[in-house]
Amino acid sequence: MRLRTLKPEGLAGKRVLVRIDGNVPVRAGRAVEGNYGRIARAAVGIEWLRQHGARTIVVTHLGRPAGKRVSAYSVRPVAKRLSELLGMKVAVARGIAGPVVERTVARMNDGDVLLLENVRFDPREEENSPSLARALAALADVYVNDGFGVSHRAHASVDAITSELPSYAGPLMAKEIQVLSSVVDKPAHPFVLAMGGLKMADKIPVMERLLPTADAIFVGGALATAFLKAQGLEVGASVYDEAGVEAARKLLKKGEGKIRLPADVLVAKSLRRGAKTRVVSVDAVQPNERIVDVGPASVAAALAAFKTAKTVVWNGPFGYGEGGFRDASERLARGISARTGKAITVVGGGDTVPMVEELGIADAFTLLSTGGGAMLEFLAGKKLPGVEALKA
Ligand code: 3PG
Repeated sequence: MRLRTLKPEGLAGKRVLVRIDGNVPVRAGRAVEGNYGRIARAAVGIEWLRQHGARTIVVTHLGRPAGKRVSAYSVRPVAKRLSELLGMKVAVARGIAGPVVERTVARMNDGDVLLLENVRFDPREEENSPSLARALAALADVYVNDGFGVSHRAHASVDAITSELPSYAGPLMAKEIQVLSSVVDKPAHPFVLAMGGLKMADKIPVMERLLPTADAIFVGGALATAFLKAQGLEVGASVYDEAGVEAARKLLKKGEGKIRLPADVLVAKSLRRGAKTRVVSVDAVQPNERIVDVGPASVAAALAAFKTAKTVVWNGPFGYGEGGFRDASERLARGISARTGKAITVVGGGDTVPMVEELGIADAFTLLSTGGGAMLEFLAGKKLPGVEALKA
């Protein structure tokens, strides 16, 4: 799939409305992300627009304020972060659209960047309202969507807006779609998929869709626990998504040996950080134990498969990261990064970006996706409203 992208010619003086996904954690008034975070990655496209003399009006959501103005969800931390990244003052508009914001936009100079207030303060955003789309469109000449992470939402600043302005994909969006569609449409073989995390409803459709093309699907995290349960194994007091056990059973049947469940796991009697652990075979988990990570033999099996893979896609942690059980995930990340250059390597999911940044390997993947839900929906073959309208 290819998307329309903007040409630099004629951008000087143009008002460009850019939708980004600036939805990152905020602590003490600061956007918490590293060099490979969502805002940092979107800043690249904004800087390109500035270089070409555009007047850039940035729109994002932050959190889920449910259509109300909630000061804790103001985009001020996003503006601060953008200001640092761009080395210039990025002001926050007094609102999302309407006459006051229009006057602010009218005062912008070429190269200026303005951030609109949290678009989800307006209930019309999540309603995909044409009237909000028209109000946003009145601010600009052109629309660019560079927020892949929110492109699965049929919201006014993502979807309805594309009926109001000439619409293009930003560089981050274009790269995400180019790499993800190559993986879905024509993966180089061997194609190895690794899926972890918890929620079966998000992950099963991806596994189902990729089952025919994948050569092996390694399963970890709480996801694996649901599969082990589906096989009738004792999983003790482990956390897993019970609602997905039946789906796991069906998928195992269809999987014809492609689905690789862990053979060994790390168990603990509590989820406390520093809790005593032991490695056991998956059939030796005691009723009072919890699975907290995938065991070393299972990690080794996945790493061996990565070694000859030509395509590797990984989403979702293999261990209980909040409790500090990150060993399997870290080893997977390093193993996948070692294949870049020899294979297409794609990693994504909320917890992955900070982890690979800490490991110092964030730039060692073909694609480090900024999308959580969006990446999964795209891989599952769903049509993303924010992407459909940008097709070349
Ligand atoms: C995300 O964090 O996955 C995106 O920003 C979308 O946010 P949402 O799940 O609140 O729509």
